[in-house]
Amino acid sequence: MTQDDAERISPDELHARQLHRLQWTLKHAYDNVPCYTKKFDEAGVHPEDCRELADLAKFPFTTKQDLRENYPFGMFAVPKEKVRRIHASSGTTGKPTVVGYTEDDLDVWATVVARSIRAAGGKPGDTIHVAYGYGLFTGGLGAHYGAEKLGCTVVPASGGMTSRQVQIITDFRPEIIMVTPSYLLTLLDEFERQGLDARESSLKVGIFGAEPWTELMRAEIEERAGLDAVDIYGLSEVMGPGVAQECVESKDGLHVWEDHFLPEVIDPFTEEVLPGGERGELLFTSLTKQAMPIIRYRTRDLTRLLPGTARPAFRRMEKVTGRTDDMIILRGVNVFPTQIEEVVLRTGNLAPHFQLVRTRQGRMDHLTVHVEARHDIAPEHRAAAAGELVAGVKEAVGVTVGVEVVDPGTLERSVGKMRRVLDHRGEGR
Ligand code: DLL
Repeated sequence: MTQDDAERISPDELHARQLHRLQWTLKHAYDNVPCYTKKFDEAGVHPEDCRELADLAKFPFTTKQDLRENYPFGMFAVPKEKVRRIHASSGTTGKPTVVGYTEDDLDVWATVVARSIRAAGGKPGDTIHVAYGYGLFTGGLGAHYGAEKLGCTVVPASGGMTSRQVQIITDFRPEIIMVTPSYLLTLLDEFERQGLDARESSLKVGIFGAEPWTELMRAEIEERAGLDAVDIYGLSEVMGPGVAQECVESKDGLHVWEDHFLPEVIDPFTEEVLPGGERGELLFTSLTKQAMPIIRYRTRDLTRLLPGTARPAFRRMEKVTGRTDDMIILRGVNVFPTQIEEVVLRTGNLAPHFQLVRTRQGRMDHLTVHVEARHDIAPEHRAAAAGELVAGVKEAVGVTVGVEVVDPGTLERSVGKMRRVLDHRGEGR
């Protein structure tokens, strides 16, 4: 079993299926969710105005704010008895956003995750160590049921208890690990601490997502862990992990499972739909979700759409550069944590553990990169590495940042999604 039937679909068949499903979704949302009824009416559009896929552009966007205002269950389109599962994402401020799934939704979710694991190189019979957090976060349970659906043996490790995770990986011999890239780095350090070489572990494939990571991080992880590192993307408002997946044979961005999730890219400022290949904010419309259909959801993730390769019917999304709300504007220049990550990884003697601290001095915003030295290197090497990083960021990003090279093992470690940016601008004024 290498691909499921839907993966072998022709582009024409896919478009027909998408249109049919889109028309159903718009009607289902309009008829059953007051928020959509109101939004469509205010925009002067009706589900019947959607005669072709491009007509979707006439419909209004949905934002996280809409979900918050309808907390907890106001976006649900089915009676509560039909909802089998609830997940929620905490976000940084305010109420969590709540999402729900019917039995059919859970089955679709497991199907797309199974498809994703297969695209990553997994097969029935493989053992999968799931170190995404289990709970209201969609990572753990989403990965779990997809892995079971594919016919794998699942080790539901969740996040945390790092030394025990290393022992379990050593003893249970999984072929695949599903984890955030930042927690994988924590695990790799723990292998070293225990005197073990992660390259000699049983792991062959890592399926990494839930946060941005760069090509250079892929190289670092593949080298240190001795596995194929591939990207998985998703968000709770749309489903969870398994909205898009990178194929192990091409490692060239993530194929969007477009038979269930229709992507668009817009200019986040003008809100115009952009043609294929242009970078902007990613939107998703669900095509089959029953419990919580979502129309033109503004993900805030920045990427672009490209033609399919390893799965030709499905378009790819380029690796996500960052989120519009992670963007730091420093003296007029836009800076993303991923840009800093690339420079850190290119700089000799620096470990891939870093955090960005924003401060204000007078009226000016400053950014300081706190980064660990790779080994216990001599002080003069640290100063040289810091200088190299300052120059590298200036050249690659065009801004001047401060750099503090700290002792190995002293920065906060991730057990899930890494907090890359600390905002200290309100302090010490
Ligand atoms: O992070 C779902 C997930 C779990 C995806 C496990 C992959 C693996 P949320 O907590 O709702 O859901 O956060 C969604 O995380 O809008 C992106 O900003 C970011 N994100 C998720 N996957 C990637 C990725 C899960 N592969 C938000 N690359 C999204 C970059 C990602 N960012």
